[in-house]
Amino acid sequence: MSRFSRRGFIRTGLGMAAASWLLPVKNGSAGSRSGGGENAFCAVASGNGSRATEKAMNLMRRGSDPLDAVIAGVNIVEEDPDDASVGYGGVPNEEGVVELDASVMYGPTHAAGAVASLRNIKTPSRVAKLVMERTGHALLVGEGALRFAKAHGFKEEDLLTEKARAIWLKWKETLSDRDFWLSPDEKTIMAELRPYAEHYGTINCLAKNSDGVLAGVTTTSGYAFKLPGRVGDSPIIGAGLYVDNAVGAAGSTGYGEANIRTCGSFLVVQFMSQGRSPEEACLKAMQVVAEKASLLPGLLDAEGRPRFGHSFYALNKKGDFGSASMWSGHTFAVHDGTENKRLESAYLYKRK
Ligand code: GLY
Repeated sequence: MSRFSRRGFIRTGLGMAAASWLLPVKNGSAGSRSGGGENAFCAVASGNGSRATEKAMNLMRRGSDPLDAVIAGVNIVEEDPDDASVGYGGVPNEEGVVELDASVMYGPTHAAGAVASLRNIKTPSRVAKLVMERTGHALLVGEGALRFAKAHGFKEEDLLTEKARAIWLKWKETLSDRDFWLSPDEKTIMAELRPYAEHYGTINCLAKNSDGVLAGVTTTSGYAFKLPGRVGDSPIIGAGLYVDNAVGAAGSTGYGEANIRTCGSFLVVQFMSQGRSPEEACLKAMQVVAEKASLLPGLLDAEGRPRFGHSFYALNKKGDFGSASMWSGHTFAVHDGTENKRLESAYLYKRK
């Protein structure tokens, strides 16, 4: 959903409130994706997570716990100023402030921790782990989350890079022609900005060690130019992340609001518990996301299909893995113990 097209989008949605909408048959299945089995290491991540799966695998092989391994993996992306969707360098909210969300979950204890709308801390995933281990709570937000992080020795830093500030300023200057923010060249700027305005990048990483311990993490700077205080699906256990050591782990990236409303990652794990492969479970959960989105016509395009992107990633206790996206053209990262690779996600709808 581009902020630029929001008004048209709402209008189109209202105009087609009565449109009938049918789910397609399963498309784009990528087939069986087996890892090395129950006694093997495996790490799975969103398409931006190849460095995370590599790191997680190396650490697990050296004896690290899977949760520490996936957090160290996503820290690479959180600390990377060039990734505009996660941690330091993330595109800010509408007031130009970077607010981060993250969650972790540990299979053997079913424990979870999360932070939301956290400012000034580069690695929210590490704070989420401390929420899990050093509080009796599961989720801390905003000012309280920041005070908790500082109590544990985290240093406050300015997370807004020059690149992210420039992106935000261009967005602000081109929001309206009825305010006093003037832009030098509207056309070029609109083209430059579009990828950011349509952007809700995130990283999810899941891992399993040779003892069958499963863990996961999801971390993000959320929707570009979001309202201050907006919390996406990433820190919501059951939506952006869910781990059940008896079954498997799942996580998501994409349009958080649609996923919160369907408890997507929990659904993926539930579908795996019914015997579906990780990929089948991801596709089935994606169908639910699409089906529920069809009840909100403003979320549909002219052909009655969801006009947002979303992806699920899953890993079961046998070491099989999979991913599915709303739209074709997405990839995910996996290290199956032998090779670190990027694979195509299955999908519900083929992009034209
Ligand atoms: N999935 C990331 C977000 O919606 O914030």
